[in-house]
Amino acid sequence: MSLYASFIAYQNYTADPVSFCFFSGYWNPHTFNYTKMSVKKVAVVTGANKGLGYCIVKKLCDKYNGKVYLTSRDEQRGRKACDELKKMGLDPFFHQLDVTNKESVNNFVKHIRQENEEVEILINNAAILFLKDAPEPKNFQAEQTISINFTALVDFTEAILPFMKNGGKIVNITSSSGHLCRIPSEELRNKFQSENLTVEELKTLVNSYVEDVQQDKEIVKGWGDSPYVVSKVAVNAYTFILHRRLTPKGITVNCVHPGYVMSDMTRGGGSITPDDAANVPVQLALTPCGAGLYVWHSGKAVPWDGPDPRVYIDGRT
Ligand SMILES: NC(=O)c1ccc[n+]([C@@H]2O[C@H](COP(=O)([O-])OP(=O)(O)OC[C@H]3O[C@@H](n4cnc5c(N)ncnc54)[C@H](OP(=O)(O)O)[C@@H]3O)[C@@H](O)[C@H]2O)c1
Repeated sequence: MSLYASFIAYQNYTADPVSFCFFSGYWNPHTFNYTKMSVKKVAVVTGANKGLGYCIVKKLCDKYNGKVYLTSRDEQRGRKACDELKKMGLDPFFHQLDVTNKESVNNFVKHIRQENEEVEILINNAAILFLKDAPEPKNFQAEQTISINFTALVDFTEAILPFMKNGGKIVNITSSSGHLCRIPSEELRNKFQSENLTVEELKTLVNSYVEDVQQDKEIVKGWGDSPYVVSKVAVNAYTFILHRRLTPKGITVNCVHPGYVMSDMTRGGGSITPDDAANVPVQLALTPCGAGLYVWHSGKAVPWDGPDPRVYIDGRT
C-alpha cells in the first residue's frame, strides 16, 4: 500500500474498523475477531430465576437483538429457570449473581470484560420484602431490606457502568412504595428529592434510617414503619441521580412500579401476572418513552412528588 492509501485506510479504520480491514487488504477472520464487531451487546437482569425477573428475561429473549443474561443468586435455581426457557425455544445465558456479595459481583463483571461485552440493557429487579407477619426482628428486616433492595442495587450498577454502552438503558424495578408521599417527614422528603443529592449522601441518609430503627426512633424521625418503603424511595432517588449523571452518555435511566404482582413475594396474591407485569419494564428497556421517569404498571409516567397514584390510577381509597 502507498503512504496515501495507508492514510485513507487509517481514516477508514478510525471510522469503521471493518472497512479498514476490508479495504486495506488486512481482511481475515483473525483480524475480524479483534475489530469493533467482536464487542457483543448484552442485556442483564438481576434476580431472574423466578417471578417478574424471569418473565422479563423471557420477553427480552424474544424481542431483544442481543445476548440476554438470566442471573440468579442460587446457581441451581438459575440454571433450572434457564432450562425451562430453553425448552420454549429461547436462548438465555446463565450467570450466578448475588448482588449483595462483592465476590459474586466481581466475578460477573470480570466475565463481562473477558467476553468483550457491552451492557446495553440493565434491569435491576432483585429485591426482598418482609410481609407484615414476618417473625424476624425489625432491626434485621431494616438492615436486610436496605442492603438488598437499595445498597446492592447501587453497588452493582456502579460496577457495571464502565461496561455500559453509550445509549444503553437502565430500568430499576421499584414499587408504588417508592412514591415520595410514602415518607411522612417533609424534611426527609426534601432531602430525597434534592437535585444536589449525591450517591454518597443518599447512602448516608439511608444508613441513618437503619440506625434510627436500631434505636427505635424511625417513627419519631418521620421514616414511617416500612423498610421496604424506605428502600424503594431510595431506589427512585438513585434513579434520578443516575439519570442526571448519565444523560451526557445517552444512557436512559427509568424506574417502574410493575403493579401488585402475583409472585412468591406476595405469596401468590396480587392483581397482575408476572408475565403481564413484565411488559412495561421490557418496553422501557427496548424503546423508552423518555428518561428520568417513574413509570406506573399502566405505562403512565407519574410525578414522584405528586399525589399518590394508587388513588388516581389504581382507584384505591
Ligand atoms: N410482587 C409485587 O407485588 C411487587 C410489587 C411492586 C414491586 N415489586 C418488585 O418487583 C421485583 C420482582 O419481585 P417479584 O414479585 O418477582 O418477587 P420474587 O418472586 O420474590 O423474586 C425476587 C427475586 O429476587 C431475587 N433476589 C433476592 N435477593 C437477591 C440477591 N441478594 N441477589 C440476587 N437476587 C436476589 C430472588 O432470588 P431467590 O429466588 O434466590 O430468593 C428472586 O429471584 C422486586 O424488585 C420487587 O420489589 C414487586
